[in-house]
Amino acid sequence: MRMILFGPPGAGKGTQAARLLERLGVAHLSTGDMLRAAVREGTELGLAADGFMKRGELVPDQLVCDLVVERLAKPDCAKGFMLDGFPRTVPQAEALDRTLERAAITLDLVLVIEVPDDLIVDRITGRRTDPVTGTIYHMTFSPPPPEVADRVVQRSDDTEAACRTRLAKYHAETRPVLPVYEPRGIVKRVDGVGTPDEVTARIMATIGLA
Ligand code: AP5
Repeated sequence: MRMILFGPPGAGKGTQAARLLERLGVAHLSTGDMLRAAVREGTELGLAADGFMKRGELVPDQLVCDLVVERLAKPDCAKGFMLDGFPRTVPQAEALDRTLERAAITLDLVLVIEVPDDLIVDRITGRRTDPVTGTIYHMTFSPPPPEVADRVVQRSDDTEAACRTRLAKYHAETRPVLPVYEPRGIVKRVDGVGTPDEVTARIMATIGLA
């Protein structure tokens, strides 16, 4: 399976990716996670990306494309991959096409998790992550267990202001990526409203893993 997990910020891509990866056994390429690791490690890429991310803006295409092209060349991607948060602009989609074409690889699926804007701010501002395991929680919808609650952290871009910028960027720059893939018949949409388990069940049914 070579797929793209697509959707607005806070749609549940990270939450569902963790569940799907167990079933699919493919490599997980989250550009958000890769960029946050670069920021933590203080690399040149991290220093360049940090400000864009905090403000909720997109990191420049060239930086992200270089990161993904390099990652796709790693041996674990030969068994299949799930791109999560990439491509986010039409130029990124074109760069991905060129890379896959050179390797004679085609995409099987673009899975879109759809959630209306008015639910997104609550999801994002309530999100907390366990820095030890990477598990994603929500203070209301999916609270961390007591033994974990003291160590969960909030992402620096999970403020209401940055969230609104991220949503605006999604509508202006990321949604226009879908028409690149629609003519290929590989786009499948899933309603992302409901409990995480309900959304997982819908995804499994949609991709034939139920
Ligand atoms: P990235 O990390 O990709 O963030 P995002 O796309 O904004 O997505 P999120 O991680 O915010 O949300 P998610 O859909 O994974 O939701 P989650 O499962 O956590 O990117 C961050 C930044 O990096 C970007 O803003 C940009 O600056 C930069 N960047 C990354 N890729 C880039 C690219 N390709 N080009 C340029 N820049 C790039 O869920 C959210 C919350 O909701 C959680 O608390 C969760 O517990 C809760 N939740 C999940 N599902 C449900 C449910 N069904 N019901 C109730 N609550 C739920």
